[in-house]
Amino acid sequence: MNYYLAPMEGITGYIYRNACSRHFGGVKKYFTPFLSPHMKKAMTSREKNDILPEHNEGLYVVPQILANDGEAFCRALETLEDLGYREVNLNLACPSGTVVSKGRGAGFLAADRREALSRFLDQIYDCSERKGMQISIKTRLGMEQPEEFEDLLSLYTRFPVSELVVHPRVQKDFYKNTPHRKEFCLAEETAENKGRESSWLCYNGDIFSPMAAEELFREFPKLSCVMLGRGMIANPGLARQLSDGGSRITEQELRNFHDEILAGYQEIMSGDRNTLFKMKELWSYQLALFPDCEKQAKKIRKAGTMDSYLAAVDELFGTGKFCPDRYFEGF
Ligand SMILES: Cc1cc2nc3c(=O)[nH]c(=O)nc-3n(C[C@H](O)[C@H](O)[C@H](O)COP(=O)(O)O)c2cc1C
Repeated sequence: MNYYLAPMEGITGYIYRNACSRHFGGVKKYFTPFLSPHMKKAMTSREKNDILPEHNEGLYVVPQILANDGEAFCRALETLEDLGYREVNLNLACPSGTVVSKGRGAGFLAADRREALSRFLDQIYDCSERKGMQISIKTRLGMEQPEEFEDLLSLYTRFPVSELVVHPRVQKDFYKNTPHRKEFCLAEETAENKGRESSWLCYNGDIFSPMAAEELFREFPKLSCVMLGRGMIANPGLARQLSDGGSRITEQELRNFHDEILAGYQEIMSGDRNTLFKMKELWSYQLALFPDCEKQAKKIRKAGTMDSYLAAVDELFGTGKFCPDRYFEGF
């Protein structure tokens, strides 16, 4: 089984990816949070920093692009090619209101935009073929109803999509409700009928624990790839643990991982406020590993200075309540 780290804006930047690889591993591909190219500027300096080869040494990184403008996408592709990338991912999955209202991410899946999506795919696959680059797609099932997926699947199979990552929810689900596994089954059947390898499909959604993974594999025995998001942020050792014979995360590993990320942010961010904000976002997931630590969790959330933050983190690690068998439970 191959495991991918999901793109997560604000979380899975290069500092996180490097620490994840160094301390845990088990991840075959690391997807960057989306890059949002525009005609005037292919990339912001923050976006460029995230994909610079010197910031991603030894990692297989797939830059993700969020766009609905073929020209802007192709320009970004050129920049990425110059940096040595040979594979990019198209985001057709982001459900956020500001993205969807501009017809991007999952907003591009609206039934009345099908023609525009088809033209866009024509244009970007034309660019990628000329450059010898691969484009994979990360998609939801549609905007409103899971049944919309059938039509989208037949569109995707008309293009040389290198890999299809399916998050089986619709846009209006955001992250609520249970993923629609039936539609993932349809993706498997369609892929098979169109002669795609079983490795063409990758599943993403709510795989937070080995139990959830086992259930998924029982249901889809031909599956060969899973993209892990929130479950990995809560327990960064999850991909390693799921990989054959992989060991569970230890408290010391989590501490070392935390300290490396903190040092990384302190080096590149101006002021403790921004660094603390990033660290607290990580803890909103990682606290799953510390049951019954509400008092310490509150101190972390409330910390207004680096000193008080570090004292709260020390206190949390000192409780002896770290539990590697706890996993993210969703929100
Ligand atoms: C905070 C946050 C940021 C995200 N950013 C991105 C993103 O930049 N690109 C993307 O395709 N998906 C993004 N996602 C969605 C995740 O990649 C993933 O599809 C989602 O979390 C479902 O997988 P999971 O159930 O394993 O978490 C984001 C999700 C969250 C919660």
